[in-house]
Amino acid sequence: MQLRGGVPLEEGKEPAVINRTNQSKALPFKVLQLLVPILALCIAFSVISIYTIRHFGITSVTTTVASTLQPCHDEPTSLERWIRPPLNLIHAMTDKELLWRASFAPRIKEYPFRRVPKIAFMFLTKGPLPLAPLWEKFLKGHEGLYSIYVHSLPSFQADFPPSSVFYRRQIPSQVSEWGRMSMCDAERRLLANALLDISNERFILLSESCIPVYNFSVIYHYLMKSRHSFMGVFDDPGPYGRGRYNENMAPEVDITQWRKGSQWFEVNRKLAVNIVEDTVFYTKFKQFCRPACYVDEHYFPTMLTIQTGNVLANRSITWVDWSRGGAHPASFGRSDITDEFFKRIFKGHNCSYNGRPSSICFLFARKFAPSSLEPLLQLAPTVLGF
Ligand SMILES: *[C@@H]1O[C@H](CO)[C@@H](O)[C@H](O)[C@H]1NC(C)=O
Ligand SMILES: *[C@@H]1O[C@H](CO)[C@@H](O)[C@H](O)[C@H]1NC(C)=O
Ligand SMILES: *[C@@H]1O[C@H](CO)[C@@H](O)[C@H](O)[C@H]1NC(C)=O
Repeated sequence: MQLRGGVPLEEGKEPAVINRTNQSKALPFKVLQLLVPILALCIAFSVISIYTIRHFGITSVTTTVASTLQPCHDEPTSLERWIRPPLNLIHAMTDKELLWRASFAPRIKEYPFRRVPKIAFMFLTKGPLPLAPLWEKFLKGHEGLYSIYVHSLPSFQADFPPSSVFYRRQIPSQVSEWGRMSMCDAERRLLANALLDISNERFILLSESCIPVYNFSVIYHYLMKSRHSFMGVFDDPGPYGRGRYNENMAPEVDITQWRKGSQWFEVNRKLAVNIVEDTVFYTKFKQFCRPACYVDEHYFPTMLTIQTGNVLANRSITWVDWSRGGAHPASFGRSDITDEFFKRIFKGHNCSYNGRPSSICFLFARKFAPSSLEPLLQLAPTVLGF
């Protein structure tokens, strides 16, 4: 009242206050009688509104948390809540929220529990997985050593039976186009979802036309014991390599650092975090690598070469046949699947593994048409070892 007294009130502003102030000077007791019920009403109203806000606030928090953290509900104080993977892969996080969450990484290198490292098989698909029966056969008996993630067109409805390894392994997906940043977004989305399971250690990107060419034990040990991550990376001086470099990428990316590589990568957990946490290179590539610069062939190979080139094997572990020429690699159907065909994949390659020459260079192969499924299942026990 004192403060207000010095300040001239504008006409029409806070008339109720002026009115009450005058009244209190004239009839203090009557006003007190009037004010008490008003005050009581105000307090009652505040209590109700605070309660309502809290009630609704809590309700909405529990609904969002419940979808991802339900298994931890009973043990809020145990370590379990930090190491148990989400039971349900469907969540309500935006990409921004998901990448942020997935970028959490422990700084103490030793895990305070028995951690069995897993391979995350990440399928980047349009829709159906025609070769699913071959993957089921390959994974049978190795539960606990792998996880599966499927990114498909959002319109696609998967209908795998509960007995399938692909049952409810679909992640929230968005439309992605070849050669565009939306393709890298899909790959980062797969990595980010897979990172939410702390046991995933090696992350392999696959398509619906990919197959494994060794049994699970061979592939598991090959990946787990490797000191390198398998990303095909090279410096192509021609128009389809350095020719796609844009000078606006400097200083983050110099032309001598510009790399090209196969989209079908394999990375360890550390590199997976590098990829999901990146904002610096992402911005540059999104802005300055557009068709005819195909961003999915340059972004990860270039960024990882700059950041941690020494841990890259610079070769892909996914075999593909470019010998027929053209813009797309060869595709194989029913009549191609023979013993002879697989000799081409197994033999005639030189590669190094942990610094030593190795005869096993490719663990996966593409591109296999749906018609190849039957002969593949027949040859699997003798030729592929599963
Ligand atoms: C997997 O294949 C390797 C060699 O190809 C073989 O030595 C091994 O016994 C196979 N493992 C299983 C579990 O079949
Ligand atoms: C892959 O290339 C990088 C340089 O880009 C190099 O540092 C690294 O040693 C290479 N990896 C292997 C396994 O040779
Ligand atoms: C692989 O390397 C060996 C020697 O290191 C060589 O004799 C052989 O010809 C090479 N094979 C291929 C397919 O390059």
